[in-house]
Amino acid sequence: MSVQFKINGKPVTAQAETDTPLLWVIRDELGLTGTKFGCGAALCGACTVHVNGQPPESACIT
Ligand code: FES
Repeated sequence: MSVQFKINGKPVTAQAETDTPLLWVIRDELGLTGTKFGCGAALCGACTVHVNGQPPESACIT
C-alpha cells in the first residue's frame, strides 16, 4: 500500500503494509532514524511522534 503524508513539513510517499507500525514506516521506509525503538509495547515513549500537533498513543504498535 502506498501512503502519502507530510513529515517535518515535507511531503513523502512510503510503501507499507496496513499492519506496519508508523515507527517502522518512518525509520525503514523513510530513513528517518531520530524516532527510536525502545520497548515495542507502548510503554516507554521512545517512539512518540506528533500527528497534527498531538502525540498518538505510540508509533511502535499498530
Ligand atoms: S518503543 Fe516504547 S513506547 Fe514505542
